[in-house]
Amino acid sequence: MTDQDSSLFQIALQQRAASVEALLADLLSDRPQSGEITRPDRLMAAIRHGVLNGGKRLRPFLVMESAALFGADNLAALRVAAALECIHSYSLVHDDLPAMDNDDLRRGQPTVHRKFDEAAAILAGDSLLTYAFELIACEETELDAHARVTLISTLARSAGIGGMVGGQALDLEAEKVKPDEQGIIRLQAMKTGALIRFACEAGAIIGHADPKDRERLAEYGSAIGLAFQLADDLLDVTADAGHMGKATGKDAAAGKATLVSMHGVEWTKRQLAGLVAQAEELLAPFGEKAALLKDAAHFIAERQS
Ligand code: IPE
Ligand code: IPE
Ligand code: MG
Ligand code: MG
Ligand code: MG
Repeated sequence: MTDQDSSLFQIALQQRAASVEALLADLLSDRPQSGEITRPDRLMAAIRHGVLNGGKRLRPFLVMESAALFGADNLAALRVAAALECIHSYSLVHDDLPAMDNDDLRRGQPTVHRKFDEAAAILAGDSLLTYAFELIACEETELDAHARVTLISTLARSAGIGGMVGGQALDLEAEKVKPDEQGIIRLQAMKTGALIRFACEAGAIIGHADPKDRERLAEYGSAIGLAFQLADDLLDVTADAGHMGKATGKDAAAGKATLVSMHGVEWTKRQLAGLVAQAEELLAPFGEKAALLKDAAHFIAERQS
């Protein structure tokens, strides 16, 4: 990726991040929404702390860019992107809890359970998970019934037992019984890959892509999803906490088996380059229209935070 491509990508990512953050700030305000009885102040403060705290907003970007690839650069895509960021943020709030990774720092700030307490962090996560589905199901998100139900069931599957949550369960087990290489790849495809794959597939669903293109986008999502966790594990070894906004060196300290601990840094960098090439190949039929999604694959593999 040239420097010019990289700065175009950075600008696009920032623009998409700003629009999803503005929507999230509005959706997560203290004002009860139609049908809600009230919004408890402290719960809302904990939720906002977990969401409106400077994430990269990469998954929303992928939803919106994938939708744009099929001509659907619209408010529905933005709202689905916001819903996915709610699920991702909930996964981080719970991931940081003492019973899981026991982390004090997230996105450069105290984790939700450190700033509030564990009950608040659990309830903030529960709220965000439920709210995400309401967001996709409610009428303000203008989608035809088929796209709406497909998004809901695909997201539920990606976030649930056989996806993110199941992956988190396997990830914790991996601290005790080391999985083999295939086991690590599978758990990473679940804990991180599934939501990233969903982000890309969601754009195709919103844009009414044909089944072949939808599968192509989903496969692109799987490739960059694997790259994403590989880069996260690499940065856990090579980067510092100040830069990452979260603790580093945690995987080795927990004795967690990762592909980086198994094969080393140089192998991991080669593997990342291979995954980027695979992602670019999957996007080749879309030509120039997919330029920003190709840049996204590079960004994910080469990111420094
Ligand atoms: C961190 O995700 C958790 C993993 C899945 C590795 P991100 O690196 O996307 O975190 P934010 O949203 O930018 O904070
Ligand atoms: C977290 O993986 C993945 C999910 C939250 C689903 P990690 O535990 O490696 O993420 P970080 O390093 O805490 O962000
Ligand atoms: Mg974890
Ligand atoms: Mg963690
Ligand atoms: Mg990590």
